[in-house]
Amino acid sequence: MSFTIIEQAPARLNRSELAVPGSNARALEKAASLDADVIFLDLEDAVAPDEKEQARKNVIAAINTVDWGKKTLSVRINGLDTHYMYRDVVDVLEQASDRLDLIMIPKVGTAADVYAVDMLVTQVENAKGRAKRVGFELIIETALGMANVDEIARASKRNESLHFGVADYAASTRARTTVIGGPNPLYGVLTDRSDDDPNEPRHYHWGDMWHYAIARMVVAARAAGLRPVDGPFGDFKDADGYRAQANRAAVLGCEGKWAIHPTQVDLANSVYSPSEAEVTKARRILEAMEQATRDGKGAVQLDGRLIDIASIKQAENLVRKAAQIAGG
Ligand code: GLV
Ligand code: MG
Repeated sequence: MSFTIIEQAPARLNRSELAVPGSNARALEKAASLDADVIFLDLEDAVAPDEKEQARKNVIAAINTVDWGKKTLSVRINGLDTHYMYRDVVDVLEQASDRLDLIMIPKVGTAADVYAVDMLVTQVENAKGRAKRVGFELIIETALGMANVDEIARASKRNESLHFGVADYAASTRARTTVIGGPNPLYGVLTDRSDDDPNEPRHYHWGDMWHYAIARMVVAARAAGLRPVDGPFGDFKDADGYRAQANRAAVLGCEGKWAIHPTQVDLANSVYSPSEAEVTKARRILEAMEQATRDGKGAVQLDGRLIDIASIKQAENLVRKAAQIAGG
């Protein structure tokens, strides 16, 4: 282990992160009845320019009046390149109650972007004597943001999570896409010709064009003690497509995925919750470890196999997550 200890962001469930447009007052209220771990009330790209002011008012009213239960509540502010952003921060933090947990900053390009918002947030919090310090969710969705992802992840004590904003990322990198966050049939490999049999069929395997970006963000997030979260999947009628993209991001280490439609919330929760079998296995690993400690043995064994330290850590994480879900 390095001598550098990684301080972890506050432990929150982040399996599903539901996006709700701030301009749609009814959707804001309905969102509270859904099972999302985190809800972000959007002032940015889901809101047209002439609705920005009303959306701000709706969002503040919703934070203050709706019963959000135990959900984590976030507001996505506009980007630093717009003239909406300062008022988003000032109005929301001056007028919204302490029910607000997080602010989501879109299109973060440099650590200085986070620093700038931190400065503004800190001023309003101090001026208003806000008791609760809001945390930051940062969307990595530009080439610049990905190039600077490590410094961005460490740019503020408020940082809690990094999110892969695949739609804007595709636009920024000029990637060729089909469905938002989905695969592209042109990204694949054709198996080689056989030297022995010219008639042997060749196979085309689709690849995941987002692999590098997600894996890169996961490393930056984990190295800074933050939660990596996968972004949107555009075709909300394609549950299988959503599940596949959610699973592959989970395999790479993400803790959850966005839901841009209520039907995606349960899909995300199910993919990002450990199964009964996984939890049982993890508990057995931890029991085997405790037994080995009691017996004074250095090596831990389970079902005739040696259990390494990494597996014990994975088991601890899993059992902790299961307890969090049960408590939620
Ligand atoms: C999210 O904001 C995205 O651009 O995918
Ligand atoms: Mg975006």
